[in-house]
Amino acid sequence: MAVPIMHKAARKMAQSHLRSDLDMTTGELTEILDLADAVKSNPKRYATALAGRYLALLFEKPSLRTRMTFELAIKQLGGDSVFAEGRLGEREPIEDVARNLDRWTHAIAARTFSQQTIEDLARWSAVPVINALSDMYHPCQALADFQTLREKFGELRGVKLAYCGDGNNVAHSLLLNASRLGVDFSIATPAAYQPHAKIVSQSCEFAKESGAKIVLTQDPLEAVQAAHAVYTDVWISMGQEAESERRKATMIPYQVDERIMTAARKDAIFMHCLPAKRGQEVAPEVIESRASAVFDQAENRLHAQKALLLMLLQ
Ligand code: CP
Ligand code: NVA
Repeated sequence: MAVPIMHKAARKMAQSHLRSDLDMTTGELTEILDLADAVKSNPKRYATALAGRYLALLFEKPSLRTRMTFELAIKQLGGDSVFAEGRLGEREPIEDVARNLDRWTHAIAARTFSQQTIEDLARWSAVPVINALSDMYHPCQALADFQTLREKFGELRGVKLAYCGDGNNVAHSLLLNASRLGVDFSIATPAAYQPHAKIVSQSCEFAKESGAKIVLTQDPLEAVQAAHAVYTDVWISMGQEAESERRKATMIPYQVDERIMTAARKDAIFMHCLPAKRGQEVAPEVIESRASAVFDQAENRLHAQKALLLMLLQ
């Protein structure tokens, strides 16, 4: 009878938390993407890798994809999850929340309004804290996105990703990872909604090392020239509802429509983290076109987060 081989699926990450994309080194980022592909092609191999491990999900804002894929990921690795929704720091201090959860669970995935809440949880928690979206970053989304890009184009180096719209949390994570992975990244935003200057300067430093070309412009047609992928996200992120009218009025020229897609490469794909607002950041015919990779991205959230959990918890 064949004896099962004990297999260590992943090496532990040097940082114990994923507060932002920067908690992964470039090498770890590539390892997570490789492991995400391995998990996707042979999920059974990892079915008990995290047996007996529990993940706490703490969400201050709504979620479909992130919540479901973390719950499914930990279950499909042999573990389980618990979920709580509500504003952190209101009923009791964040440092107490962290020091309760770390007695019961092996990791905390938190979706917060403020990046500071993620930092505070990580400071006080004895178990890994994973950023499941904050006002500044969305690192779990970026993992799935670069997995998707690599699947579509075979490799990442030499690929050009263009982003149109709001220079937000999703844009920040794409910038920080594209610039390290050697993916050319052009971002077109209105002047008032550019990505954070600190993230742009960090990304430009990374790009010197990786050879990626980073371009900031206000012209969406310039950004998408020769792009392999055109990415957009909502103009009004969760928590920005009071700014809706001003944001919509300013960002109309950045809607990804057929004119924008035609200015990219012939084989360009359309990407969006979802949820999407059809008729705002994306025209309905683009998100529903053959070029749309949005559900591939959503699927890969599951595989990429399994890889992340393996790297943090095994
Ligand atoms: N893309 C994403 O994070 O989706 P949810 O807000 O549904 O989790
Ligand atoms: N930028 C969006 C992403 C949602 C997944 C938000 O923060 O609401």
